[in-house]
Amino acid sequence: MTYQPELSVLKDGNAVASTAARVIAAHIEDSPAAVLGLATGRTPLAVYADLRGRVARGELSFDGVRCFSLDEYQGLPPGHPASYHSYMCRELFDHVDIRQDDWHLPDGTADDLAAAGAGYEAAIRHAGGVDLQLLGIGENGHIGFNEPGAPFESRTREVALAASTIRANASEFPPGDTPPTHALTMGIGTILEARRILLLATGSRKAKAVAAMMTGPIDPAVPASALRLHPAVTILCDAEAASCLSGDECG
Ligand code: F6R
Repeated sequence: MTYQPELSVLKDGNAVASTAARVIAAHIEDSPAAVLGLATGRTPLAVYADLRGRVARGELSFDGVRCFSLDEYQGLPPGHPASYHSYMCRELFDHVDIRQDDWHLPDGTADDLAAAGAGYEAAIRHAGGVDLQLLGIGENGHIGFNEPGAPFESRTREVALAASTIRANASEFPPGDTPPTHALTMGIGTILEARRILLLATGSRKAKAVAAMMTGPIDPAVPASALRLHPAVTILCDAEAASCLSGDECG
C-alpha cells in the first residue's frame, strides 16, 4: 500500500519553522506525555528556537514529554561541540523543562554499537513508540543517516556516512578536527513505525531530493521515498525546496 504525503509549500524557511513548531506544540498540548523523534542539522534550528520561546513565555511545557534523537556520530564524546548530544542540549534540552531521564540519543561511543542500537530500539518500544517524528532530508535523499541503499526495514545501527554527507556537515566541526565517517542512526524501519511523521525541507539544494521523494520510484536508492509507505506523513517545504516538483526539467 502506498500513500501520497500531505505537502505544504510555504513562503520561506521561517514559515516552515513556525508551522512545524505549531504542529509540535499542539501535539504536546494534546498529549503531554508525547514521545517525539527529533532531527538535528540546520533545518530544524529555527523550530527549536520557536519551541524554546514558547517554553520561556510559559506557553508550553516539556515536563513529561519523551524525546528520542534520530542519530549520533560514532566515536564523538557527548561533550564534543559537534556531537548531536551537544546540539540537542544547546538548541533545546538545556532551555526547556524536560526531565533529564526523558531525552535520549543513540550512544555513538559504545564499545558494542550493535548492542547500543538494539538497546535504543528497546527504549523506544518501552516508551510506547514514537508519536511524532521530525525529519530533515539530505541532498542525496537520506533520512536520519540512512544513506542511499539502506534497507527500508533497517533498525537502529551503525552506518557509514556518504562522502557528500561528511562534506555537507564538515563545517560543524572545529578547524583541524576530522569529521567522523560513521554514525549510529535509527533505521528506516524504525522511522516508519512512528505514528506521524513531519519532514522539513528548505532551500534549493534540497529540491531534487524532494522531487525524488515525492514523485520518483519508491526505492532504497532514495531513502526518503520510503515515507510513501506511511499513511501519516506531512512535508513542509519552502518554495525553493519545492521547485523541482512542477514536472519541469530541473537542473
Ligand atoms: C539529522 C539527520 C539528517 C538531516 C539531513 C539534513 O539528525 O538525521 O538526516 O536531517 O542531513 O540536514 P540539514 O538540515 O543540515 O540540511
